[in-house]
Amino acid sequence: MKPVVLITGASSGIGTALARVFAAKGHELALAARRQDRLDVLADAIAATGPPRPSVLTVDLERRDGASAIAAELSSRGLEPAIVVNNAGFGLTGAATTLSRDEQLAMIDLNVRALTELSLLFVESLARHRGGVLNVASVAAFLPGPGMAVYYATKAYVLSFSEALHRELADQGIRVTALCPGPVPTEFQARSGMHLDPAARVLELSAERVAHIGYDALMRGKRVAVTGIGNKIAVALMRLVPNALLLRLVDQRRAVRNTH
Ligand SMILES: NC(=O)c1ccc[n+]([C@@H]2O[C@H](COP(=O)([O-])OP(=O)(O)OC[C@H]3O[C@@H](n4cnc5c(N)ncnc54)[C@H](OP(=O)(O)O)[C@@H]3O)[C@@H](O)[C@H]2O)c1
Repeated sequence: MKPVVLITGASSGIGTALARVFAAKGHELALAARRQDRLDVLADAIAATGPPRPSVLTVDLERRDGASAIAAELSSRGLEPAIVVNNAGFGLTGAATTLSRDEQLAMIDLNVRALTELSLLFVESLARHRGGVLNVASVAAFLPGPGMAVYYATKAYVLSFSEALHRELADQGIRVTALCPGPVPTEFQARSGMHLDPAARVLELSAERVAHIGYDALMRGKRVAVTGIGNKIAVALMRLVPNALLLRLVDQRRAVRNTH
């Protein structure tokens, strides 16, 4: 079986940038998402720069059979993951009680269930290739998020799960890294109905920069990588401030945003 880096959510944003970085570093890729046209354009663009054309896997990871469909497709093509990059994810903005319950549960299916399944499914081949798992969490993982309650909770799960897995899989030579970006201009904001307030712009990094930070962190076997100095300071402050105060501050910012 030929080793590949499996990247979910490669059709846009951070996932596309991660695909370009892994390809440039000499890894063969398998790219997964729902929009096959986007994946084909990216695969062609990568192949045009020299590396082998990535395998394209069209899959809806909100579906319960999404991860097993990826496994079956990889195996039928003679491929097995050396590295899994769980990047696919989305958010929803609004009060949890007023947002669609079905959409919020679909978010959990993608951000939590599919990520968990894909982190566990390929452990034998990850160990064989002394590879790893790069899970895209968020700075949102470090605090509760009124106004995006379920999204923040999914990212807290990703961080907690990945840190524990980092420890559990170390003996098998498998690296596990939680990548925690702050704001990154991608399709994420439009999909989640989010308006980035101007104050948060100072924390913004490009998808390309985030992808490089994630790649380096995984290769160095880091447990958690918070992107950029501004976000690192923000996370350090979040850990000092009691949750009751943090919640009030987040909620106040939301109220100010909603009046604009
Ligand atoms: N942008 C930010 O500010 C930010 C900050 C922190 C963390 N993050 C995290 O970074 C990750 C990537 O987000 P992004 O900013 O790059 O957003 P994006 O541009 O909206 O990309 C999301 C990717 O996820 C894929 N995806 C969505 N639903 C899917 C499904 N049901 N099945 C398979 N793939 C699916 C999308 O592909 P298809 O639509 O083609 O399926 C797309 O490739 C997410 O986990 C997000 O939570 C983003």
